[in-house]
Amino acid sequence: MSVQTSQPNDTNSLKNSLTAQGRLTIVGCGLHPGHMTMETESHIKNADIVLVVAPNPLSIQHIRQLNPNVENLGLLYEGDVNRLQTYHLMADRMVELASHGQNVCAIYYGHPGIFVLSTHMAREQLEEADIPVTMLPGISADACLFADLNLDPATTGCQSYEATQFLLSKRSIDTGASLILWQVGLVGEHTLKGQKPGKHGLAALTKLLQQDYPDDHKMCIYEAPTLPGFAPHIDWITLVELPSAKVSSISTLVIPPSSDLVFAKERLTWLKITNEDLSAWDDA
Ligand SMILES: C[S@@+](CC[C@H](N)C(=O)[O-])C[C@H]1O[C@@H](n2cnc3c(N)ncnc32)[C@H](O)[C@@H]1O
Repeated sequence: MSVQTSQPNDTNSLKNSLTAQGRLTIVGCGLHPGHMTMETESHIKNADIVLVVAPNPLSIQHIRQLNPNVENLGLLYEGDVNRLQTYHLMADRMVELASHGQNVCAIYYGHPGIFVLSTHMAREQLEEADIPVTMLPGISADACLFADLNLDPATTGCQSYEATQFLLSKRSIDTGASLILWQVGLVGEHTLKGQKPGKHGLAALTKLLQQDYPDDHKMCIYEAPTLPGFAPHIDWITLVELPSAKVSSISTLVIPPSSDLVFAKERLTWLKITNEDLSAWDDA
């Protein structure tokens, strides 16, 4: 498979003449090396430089075999740094290289546009400077949990939130739909430096959920495998057990519906149909 390269930008500005060949392709390698697509591999092979934020050494090793010119941006997480600063540093590096004419491939674990602030920051800056940016999808944590938990978002609908934002935002929960809370392992971690929930994070989240769900409602702490061939970690707990649940930086909380969908029969008239007209749906 070959990758199309960008055409030089026909512009008089000095800036654009210097950067005409630069481009950024943002790709995701999924949660383990077996999730890498052929299209992603092709972009890695053809890049001048590959910037990596990968889940594990095996993925980095695989990427190095495709292209030896690898810079591990994951190292920017090390030390006593605020996560937001790290995301800015990652975005700055992508922008710097692409705006100096490099064909840059930035590879993140999972899907590179899902809960990844730095890729959106870099994209915005480069697009403002008319430097081409492309993002390819990757296999994300929710793609894995839909498979492992046999959960189809079509069945009841599905809400999906970042756990701390969910806790600190006023919103209505639809208990007739599934609820996915990302970064539950960091809920209430307000310093942006820690790698575990804030001291009262899980208790506060429980208190909020108790407004809509019964104490004995079952929910799942889910961790997809980060190596091929391994089983997922699936821990079913009740809501009252949530404050003392074991969570990690890769845990996602999945809460199944606690109520049935309520049929809005009166809206059939909006479609100008009757209940009988829905007979084709009976076996669904
Ligand atoms: C910064 S986000 C990155 C998400 C990633 N870009 C993706 O597409 O899945 C990190 C959060 O993703 C979820 N996550 C990451 N790895 C996971 C795994 N192996 N199993 C389940 N959830 C995971 C967790 O909610 C975690 O807190």
